[in-house]
Amino acid sequence: MNTVLDAQKLNKSYTLGKGNEQPVLRDVDMQIKEGEFISVMGPSGSGKSTLLYNICGMDRPDSGTVLFQNRDIAGLPERELSRLRLNEMGFIFQQIHLLKNLSIFDNIILSGYQARTRSRMEVNRRAEELMERTGITELAGNDITQASGGQLQRVGICRALINEPGILFGDEPTGALNSSASEEIMALLAEINRAGTTIMLVTHDIKVASRTERVLFMMDGRIVAEKRLGAAGAAAEQVTATAATAAAAKAREEHLAAWLLEQGF
Ligand SMILES: Nc1ncnc2c1ncn2[C@@H]1O[C@H](COP(=O)(O)OP(=O)(O)O)[C@@H](O)[C@H]1O
Ligand SMILES: [Mg+2]
Repeated sequence: MNTVLDAQKLNKSYTLGKGNEQPVLRDVDMQIKEGEFISVMGPSGSGKSTLLYNICGMDRPDSGTVLFQNRDIAGLPERELSRLRLNEMGFIFQQIHLLKNLSIFDNIILSGYQARTRSRMEVNRRAEELMERTGITELAGNDITQASGGQLQRVGICRALINEPGILFGDEPTGALNSSASEEIMALLAEINRAGTTIMLVTHDIKVASRTERVLFMMDGRIVAEKRLGAAGAAAEQVTATAATAAAAKAREEHLAAWLLEQGF
């Protein structure tokens, strides 16, 4: 499988007042293969979000290289970086930041229009398709106050996928959701991954991480361990909860929890 993203020896520090440099990423190496569903776990403050921002070009490391599709992006000018993010990457966050004065449909198509790589008609058609896939078709004309948290996160996913990015990044994408909405979003992400999109999530939630295929564990700015859980498909379908699949998901979660305990989480 091709490597989509190859980050090497990333270092990043924040200056907290004079002479007080706090290293947040320390010589971090990480690779993401095409088609993977990967998560980064670790205690709060361990550097998970910082790692995500530095590999996706939202922030720049102090040193190290980030190869995205074999292209070094750490040194790209801002314009090219934003173009790359717009066309080739999708983002979902804990808070989705939708525009209040636009309908849900318009929020989804906006970055499709901005990209100018497809006709508006194509973008509209793709938005309809995505809304159908994520089960929010009936919300198209609503404004964003007329949707639940789980529905809004689906809107966020549609928006992130509008330009057909090869990779989707998520920072605590279920962080603001209750557990059943969170399960549904994870099932949806697993489905999106099975359809071919590479996904990398940052989370402190064991349940969420246990739905991914490979879990990296961060501590104090370093990736200190890695666990392969294998294909996420079976566990993710447990929203259609037969007792057997629910049990499999539970076992997977306990397996990950035991491993994390060994890592000192
Ligand atoms: N913009 C910033 N300025 C200063 N310090 C920051 C900034 N962003 C993050 N940090 C610090 O870097 C450390 C790691 O933060 P973060 O990557 O958000 O961790 P995590 O996502 O694992 O909770 C924390 O100690 C945090 O306070
Ligand atoms: Mg974070």
